[in-house]
Amino acid sequence: MELDLDLTVVANESASMFGSSFEHDVLSGLALHHRAIPARWLYDRAGSELFEEITRLPEYYPSRTERAILCAHARHIASLTGYGRDVIEFGSGSSTKTPLILEAVEAAAYVPIDICGEFLMSSVVALSHRFPSMPIHPVVADFTKPLTLPSIRSRGRLGFFPGSTIGNLVPPLAVRLLQTMATTLGEGAQLLIGIDRIKEAGVLIPAYDDADGVTAQFNLNLLRRINRELRGTIPVDAFRHVARWNEAESRIEMHLEAREAVAFSVAGRRFQMRAGDTIHTENSIKYGPRDARLLLRAGGWTPLEEWSDPDDKFAVLLAEVKPVRFAP
Ligand code: AVI
Repeated sequence: MELDLDLTVVANESASMFGSSFEHDVLSGLALHHRAIPARWLYDRAGSELFEEITRLPEYYPSRTERAILCAHARHIASLTGYGRDVIEFGSGSSTKTPLILEAVEAAAYVPIDICGEFLMSSVVALSHRFPSMPIHPVVADFTKPLTLPSIRSRGRLGFFPGSTIGNLVPPLAVRLLQTMATTLGEGAQLLIGIDRIKEAGVLIPAYDDADGVTAQFNLNLLRRINRELRGTIPVDAFRHVARWNEAESRIEMHLEAREAVAFSVAGRRFQMRAGDTIHTENSIKYGPRDARLLLRAGGWTPLEEWSDPDDKFAVLLAEVKPVRFAP
């Protein structure tokens, strides 16, 4: 089959809410008192593949639970979105849950947006075989900045943001991202979003520290990436992966902890860590039902409906853009 895929590359001009370059973020992050590197740098090619592996682990409940929710409620979701909208997926990655939604809502067109063109194209090719008559307009862009979408005549736009990726942003950034999505999607748009629930640490910790050590490799890959791309000399074996539940902040934190005192350089700058010091590499915030709805409202979205699994581990919410009313 001949594929006619027009790849739109959008160079958004306004500043990203995620900061700047890898080198800048690593050097400034390692110099902090509480060392921290933004989680988005976990996702080079190797990191993205390891993350795909994580989603298939028995301990990592979010992916399969969200998929089961979407399967069970696809018809109800479609009855609320209506049929024939354009589906815009934010950070589409490998797009594994997308076919369920495209089919259920009889999408007029599919616009996957991802910062990584390579990953985007491989998933788009697979989808175009499955939906040969549906127009697909992949966009390579940073979706944390407002962008102009390809104009397609349809019955409105449905944003799709699965996987609880919103939980990887601290609340002020999560709110800003939701506001940006509202701006990008425009008036009358709806958003279908996956948000992970708060639950016992006994379930959360293994999900982020699995028995096979895949999540550990995913986390440690960041150090390998720094060594490869930034002339780093970090002794990777001197670090271990740590997953912690931070009750006060309602989040899982991933850290890389030095097993012993270490000294290394990155891009010509010297750093030292004592045994037990950590580099904070990811937050995965978990939301209760009210928290999730309030987060959406703060981001300019009015919740319409939500669905969960029988154990209430994970939730999928449908919301719509509504003009803000500042007074009753
Ligand atoms: C991508 N994101 C929603 C995952 C999560 O659960 O926060 C990333 C992840 N990190 C370790 N395991 C999964």
